[in-house]
Amino acid sequence: SARILSGMQPTHDSLHLGNYLGAQVNWVRMQQDFDAFFCVVDQHALTVQPDPADLRARTRVTAAQYLAGGIDPQVSTVFVQSHVPEHSQLAWVLNCITGYGEAARMTQFKDKSAKRGTDGTNVGLFTYPMLMAADILLYDATAVPVGEDQRQHLELTRDLAQRFNARYGDTFVIPQPHIPGETAKIMSLQEPTAKMSKSADNQNGNLMMLDEPKANTKKVKSAVTDTDNAVRYDPEAKPGIANLLRIHSALSGDSVETLVDRYAGENKYGALKTDVAELVVGVQAPFKARVDELLTDPAELDRILAAGAARAREVASVTLRRVYDAVGFVPAA
Ligand code: TYM
Repeated sequence: SARILSGMQPTHDSLHLGNYLGAQVNWVRMQQDFDAFFCVVDQHALTVQPDPADLRARTRVTAAQYLAGGIDPQVSTVFVQSHVPEHSQLAWVLNCITGYGEAARMTQFKDKSAKRGTDGTNVGLFTYPMLMAADILLYDATAVPVGEDQRQHLELTRDLAQRFNARYGDTFVIPQPHIPGETAKIMSLQEPTAKMSKSADNQNGNLMMLDEPKANTKKVKSAVTDTDNAVRYDPEAKPGIANLLRIHSALSGDSVETLVDRYAGENKYGALKTDVAELVVGVQAPFKARVDELLTDPAELDRILAAGAARAREVASVTLRRVYDAVGFVPAA
């Protein structure tokens, strides 16, 4: 069957609700219909120069969160990027067909490098999108389930695949982004015009999947809304309420219209928040319990990741050989 690939960076101890609703829920849905590859992208995480012990722990806890969220390692291939050297090998080839200006126009790079300054910006951040393209193209993925913030990287991936095919002959499958509707951009609870983000300054805006339920309840109750006091779905004028309605809808399965009717009338913000908090905790508490359980047996987790890497290499090595032949590298033997 057709393949999909996606991944998350192990830059933090916990996924946030945006990672879960924007990406993971779709991974779980799609794994039944596709030959699915889910990668913990530890090489991408190295761009933020984590402490080695943190990176090691976060790589395992991120893999545990894939499983806790419903990725079945009997059905899908779960692996760690650095276990499959073909990712960096293909990334180099892709670097050599990417324009400097093209890479410099990536908005995530522009934002991050503006924040850090030229000397604080490592070259890994610059070449990050070509490594991501390699992740995808190695597996002939037809679809890539991600949130809205990855759209531009997916467009670059498609451009590079098309350029390579035009220059060297048909080699890569052209992947499609698979971006959900209402949950593609979950917003910060404190700054509802900005996405929920691991690197946000105000972490009170993030609902963390591995926090204590009490902490998440408190964050939902103090979510920034507006003084208008009527529940309507208006992302422009009422971004905080719109975000809460979308989170509610995604977790309860009720449509936003149904919810607007339910919470119609004055002074219903409190009721909406109470219900959202309950729904978040209802998903997050059992998720956390499963992660805690998985982490009690790290050897089993490592065994799953080793089996995943072996399966991933079977696919990736064939693609890389095709690429090396196409560009004119002499075979090693
Ligand atoms: P990362 O680790 O930042 O995020 C993981 C996934 O979560 C989605 N996401 C969100 N969705 C909705 N609302 C939000 N507020 C929100 N924040 C994050 C992201 O879109 C992503 O799907 N570059 C990628 C990792 C990556 C990758 C890949 C993804 C590396 N190689 C190959 C797909 C395919 C990243 O930094 O995701």
